[in-house]
Amino acid sequence: MTNSHDQVKFAYWVPNVSGGLVISKIEQRTGWDIDYNRRLAQIAEQAGFDYALSQIRFTAGYGAEFQHEPVAFSHALLAATTKLKVIAALLPGPWNPAVAAKQIATISQLTEGRVAVNIVSGWFRGEFTAIGEPWLDHDERYRRSEEFIRALRGIWTQDNFTFRGDFYRFSDYTLKPKPAHPLPEIFQGGSSRAARDMAARVSDWYFTNGNSVAEIKKQIDDIRAKARANNHSVKIGVNAFAIARDTEAEARAVLDEIIVKADPEAVNAFGHEVKNAGKASPEGQGNWAQSSFEDLVQYNDGFKTNLIGTPEQIAERIVALKEVGVDLVLLGFLHFQEEVEYFGGRVIPLVRALEAKTGAHAEAAE
Ligand SMILES: Cc1cc2nc3c(=O)[nH]c(=O)nc-3n(C[C@H](O)[C@H](O)[C@H](O)COP(=O)(O)O)c2cc1C
Repeated sequence: MTNSHDQVKFAYWVPNVSGGLVISKIEQRTGWDIDYNRRLAQIAEQAGFDYALSQIRFTAGYGAEFQHEPVAFSHALLAATTKLKVIAALLPGPWNPAVAAKQIATISQLTEGRVAVNIVSGWFRGEFTAIGEPWLDHDERYRRSEEFIRALRGIWTQDNFTFRGDFYRFSDYTLKPKPAHPLPEIFQGGSSRAARDMAARVSDWYFTNGNSVAEIKKQIDDIRAKARANNHSVKIGVNAFAIARDTEAEARAVLDEIIVKADPEAVNAFGHEVKNAGKASPEGQGNWAQSSFEDLVQYNDGFKTNLIGTPEQIAERIVALKEVGVDLVLLGFLHFQEEVEYFGGRVIPLVRALEAKTGAHAEAAE
């Protein structure tokens, strides 16, 4: 269970692919190059962000014409910062767990344990075809991801690691050196039944698309109940696209402009492609399964979380998410450097003040 005295953590999406975080022709003062990103990482750690999350894309699609590889890119951001933790995206299939475990262990050694990983299970079939990688059915992708996670954890924590899976096998394998401490945290993306069950068994963190507080609560209650039964504990991260402005009207006007300038062809093509995600699962639920055209304009349903308004409104909504068990808010922005700074200056202090008040109430009630 989340301790109400713990502070909610903040992460931002690393723009290591071009085109920003919304499928819209609105101006996005966001660069995908390394100079922009190094500066952004420094601004973010100064602003009170705990994590940066990189993205894995092998090909263009609906924007993202250029895509930097996330493990190498994450290391460059770690080298440019001192406190920030950087989460490198890994896609089982293209990535082999022995190579990934060794790469990440080395980066962990080089950065005093500031690297983490996000295991993504794949939704973009065209990308797999383009690189000649077999495409598995939805739940098979998660079975493979779970073996991938078990392999990473085993290699990082045990000598003479032996594992007999359907996708991966290890025999008496000892990695040296192992990662530095703390061990790299293992995040996962996805919210279908298979994704939740995997989180409740093996992941340190579960990342889900944006949604209302009520819908997020349903997911959390489900996962935490299952995790408890498995004697496992998992933390929860939720995506949101933040539009924080001095007035609510200004923030709403920005959202309207993003939607008005959305690229319908690209949004619809993306909507078609993501049917291979949750919708293709046996239960037909999961990420994007119920997304409208407007929701899809932000790649991970980030408008649904409604962190759009004044700093005060946003801070209250973040605390409401925390109240239902959210441990981390993952944020995208239109103009990353400018808005990460504004968010750190104007929103995070309000969240901390509200948390202190809630903490004080909780103590008084104890
Ligand atoms: C926060 C977050 C980050 C993700 N990052 C990536 C990524 O970098 N590359 C990718 O191909 N998929 C990414 N995904 C997609 C998921 O790994 C997964 O394939 C997708 O959400 C399918 O969800 P489902 O299990 O609900 O079907 C991400 C998902 C979330 C929620």
